[in-house]
Parts: sequence; structure tokens; C-alpha cells
Amino acid sequence: MIYTTLAVLLLSAATVPQQPAAARRTVWDGVYTTAQAERGQAAYTTNCSRCHMDNLAGKGTAPSLKSEKFMEDWREYPLESLFTLIRPDMPPRRTEDSPRISDADYLDILTYILQGNAFPPGNAELGIEALNRIQIVRKEGPSPLPSGSMVLTAGCLLQLSETNWTLIDASEPVRAAILDRTTPEQLRAAASMPPGYQKFRLVNYDYIGPDFNLEPYMGQKIQVRGYLIRQPDAERINVTSVDRLAPACGQ
Ligand code: HEC
Repeated sequence: MIYTTLAVLLLSAATVPQQPAAARRTVWDGVYTTAQAERGQAAYTTNCSRCHMDNLAGKGTAPSLKSEKFMEDWREYPLESLFTLIRPDMPPRRTEDSPRISDADYLDILTYILQGNAFPPGNAELGIEALNRIQIVRKEGPSPLPSGSMVLTAGCLLQLSETNWTLIDASEPVRAAILDRTTPEQLRAAASMPPGYQKFRLVNYDYIGPDFNLEPYMGQKIQVRGYLIRQPDAERINVTSVDRLAPACGQ
């Protein structure tokens, strides 16, 4: 009996389509070259050093780009999120007359930051198209998201009491970019995910709008975006948006 179960398991493992290697890369997989980081250092010196300092350590209100806090802010995000923050916003308060920084320069600057964080170089340059497939993680690997993170999760909405709306069978929350709009692709991906094991109480959804309420979503599979608040025995999400994924749970 045990043997047949094992055989079935092995067989199904063999037939599960392997994710392409590109989908599982992290910043520890040698995702940029030393030459690229050297170019990045030059562009960084011109555009960023005066605030963040040559060694990335930061100064005054310009934070360190290689500290423990930096890692905590960015872990479990794809590199694309960091790139998307830097490109429009850094240096801050640019005007029409400020020097233009090309995407290629921003990309090189990003690799200088990667090098400064001791992520190892590799054989191929980092390209823009790869940014959303490379995760920022600690060397030990991914770990649960810190409280306060903006997240996405999908699950089944139940009303447990008059004031208690809880998402059950919810998927492990993933980081969501703060300004991101939910895309149809994200919803399709969320809808096809199997149920998870998490449970979140949904709170503060009245911020969505004075007329918003969760009743129309009761018993449905929904995707929730919001701020994760971790508490012993009662994880909450301060909801910023809700999308219906399926008209009934278990679909
Ligand atoms: C005029 C000073 C100044 C310059 C120049 C500047 N920054 Fe910043 N940077 C800041 C300040 C201040 C913050 C924090 C406040 C904020 O987010 O606006 C910041 C925040 C950041 C953050 C977010 C850090 C975190 O932990 O969330 C990154 C990344 C960053 N800067 C990268 C860059 C890069 C790359 C350049 C060059 C292209 C650059 N900055 C140029 C002042 C500057």
C-alpha cells in the first residue's frame, strides 16, 4: 500500500510541469555582471551619491540602500518593484531641467545597489524584462511578510458575526506594489490558485468608500488587497480593495 502511494506520488511529481527556471530566480542567483555594476557605480555617483552616499549608507533623510531596514522593506518583492520606485521618484523633486537618466542607466544603478547588498554577480547582464521574475529574498530564503506590508491574498468570505467578516481558506499573502492597480492577469492567476490555509479578519474596509460593504461578496471567492496586520491569533487585513474571483467558494 505504502509502495503504491509512493509510486503514485513519484509519478505525479514527474508529470507536474516544471516551472521554467527563469520563474524561480532570486537575487542570490547571479543576476547581473560585475561590468554592469561598475557602469552602475558611475551613474550612481553622478545621480544618487550626494544623498545616499558613495557607499550606499545614506545620510539624513535619504535612507541607507543596504541596511537591515532596506532588506525588510524590499524582501519578497520582485526587483521590478524597486526599479518602479526608483525610476520615476529618484532623485526626488526633478524638474524639466534635471538631467535625464535613461532606463539603461537606472538598470545599471540597480545592479550597483545589488552588488552593495552583497548579492553575487553572474555571467549575464540584468535586463528589464527579467525584473519581475527575480525575487528579493534573504539568503535563508523567503520568510513571512512583516506586519504593515501591502499584500494580495485570495480566499472565501464568511460573515462570522455582525461585525466580523473573515476570509478563510486564504492563500499565503504576497507583496503588492502600493500604487499598482489590480490587472486582469493577476485576477486570472488568483482565481486559478488552489485554496490556502490562512485566515484573515477584514477590517477598515469603509475607507474604500462610504457605501462600500462586504455583503455582496458573502460566500464568494474574492481577492483582497490591503495592509497586513499581524497579531497573535488574529491576523487582520486593512482592506483597500476587493475583487470577485468566483461567485461561490470552492471554485
Ligand atoms: C536629493 C537627494 C536624493 C537623491 C539625489 C536620490 N535620493 Fe533616493 N531617496 C531620498 C530620500 C529623501 C528618500 C526617502 C524618502 C522618499 O522615499 O522619498 C529616498 C529613498 C530612496 C529609496 C527607497 C529606500 C527604501 O528603503 O525604501 C531608494 C531605493 C532610493 N532612494 C534610490 C535612489 C537612487 C537609485 C538614486 C539615484 C538615481 C537616488 N535615490 C537619488 C533622497 C535622494
